[in-house]
Amino acid sequence: MNQSRPASMSSFWMPFTNNRDFKANPRLLVSAEGMYYKDVDGNSVLDGTAGLWCVPCGHAQPKIVSAVREMVGQLDFAPTFQMGHPAAFDLAEQLMEYSGHKFGHVFYTNSGSEAVDTALKMALAYHKARGEGSRTRLIGRERGYHGVGFGGLSVGGIGGNRKSFGPLLPGVDHLPHTHNLERNAYTRGQPDYGSHLADELERLVALHDASNIAAVIVEPVAGSTGVLIPPKGYLKRLRELCTKHGILLIFDEVITGFGRLGTPFAADYFDVEPDMMATAKGLTNGVIPMGAVFTKKHIHDAFIDVPAGIELFHGYTYSGHPVACAAALATLEVFKDQDILGHAQSVQGYWEDAVHSLKGLPHVIDLRTIGLIAGIELAPIAGKPGTRAFTAFKKAFADGLLIRTTGDIIALSPPLVIDKHHIDELFGKLTTVLNNLD
Ligand SMILES: Cc1ncc(COP(=O)(O)O)c(C=O)c1O
Repeated sequence: MNQSRPASMSSFWMPFTNNRDFKANPRLLVSAEGMYYKDVDGNSVLDGTAGLWCVPCGHAQPKIVSAVREMVGQLDFAPTFQMGHPAAFDLAEQLMEYSGHKFGHVFYTNSGSEAVDTALKMALAYHKARGEGSRTRLIGRERGYHGVGFGGLSVGGIGGNRKSFGPLLPGVDHLPHTHNLERNAYTRGQPDYGSHLADELERLVALHDASNIAAVIVEPVAGSTGVLIPPKGYLKRLRELCTKHGILLIFDEVITGFGRLGTPFAADYFDVEPDMMATAKGLTNGVIPMGAVFTKKHIHDAFIDVPAGIELFHGYTYSGHPVACAAALATLEVFKDQDILGHAQSVQGYWEDAVHSLKGLPHVIDLRTIGLIAGIELAPIAGKPGTRAFTAFKKAFADGLLIRTTGDIIALSPPLVIDKHHIDELFGKLTTVLNNLD
């Protein structure tokens, strides 16, 4: 494959990218192994973001690479509409085991956005199947990110993502976000202040009546708006209120699933059981696109008990793609064989200390950490929001470090195989960048 600069870069309309700026000064990656990318000029780049949060086991895991090679030669495609192939069923069983059998079923998608839209559609159809078809309202949260489908965009709470796309879905409300710098800056782990914000759900129930509300969807830890960690007690309170009012609770675990907090899912870390979980990213270690919605048994059974032909009129051509299934099965094996969760837990304390060592550096106004995640909030340049962090991103890349920024927040989420010496390298480079930032 081409390892040099492409002859032309004009035709590829790049996603979520300032295309003109990028093409004037491109950042091109050509290979990856372990904790490092290699760029087109042969420089090593330490991966501080697991790609886009999607490579928990590190790059080029041999077992996953060979599983993909083998499956693509054996069964390049098989439909899963009224057909099947063994790997899709084997993977579903393995995923149930990985989740500690807290869920009964899994539905395959090809991305986080599709997993979210699938979960939202399931929530609506579930209530209808049980004779509660008036439950149609969906509740998201300000500053939430649930992908880019119309469902996820509607329950999502990032203004910039929504503003160009019309009225979106009707019947959607948003809980307030929980970010509060005055009260919670420099918290390690969960902040103390803010669990009462879950009670805003009671206000929405009073307004619409529970009989009209289908589901609440939240990210247990919000990533895309800059690492917003749930206040102590917040998610438990949300669970209690949803149960009280017969509202389904959906966790969007697209970034937190598969070990980000050192547990299989964030639901385990926070000890809160949602009715459904949307997952993707780490499921195949980023190797082949795949998402999965985990559902409690009662959700699935509400459809299966309905006397009809096809129970759920929903699915994607590539749901349960054999090569994606092979990648996911191999990923789960790597999780087990290499004790990825145990390793993540063993370095979390070192990670947290390293993040908080940045306190006092120029422009830093907050540091927050949980699991192997960090949010580093910078003071914005007046009148130019986002510019300071984006400059940090460019400087870091030039210095051989991949970070991610959203607004003026740097979000870090390295592969879970990160070692202490990588953490030292990462924060050494980041310190230099921050010390040289205007
Ligand atoms: C919480 C969350 N949900 C959904 C998505 C969308 O996933 P995808 O880009 O695979 O559609 C993302 C992507 O970053 C995410 O962070």
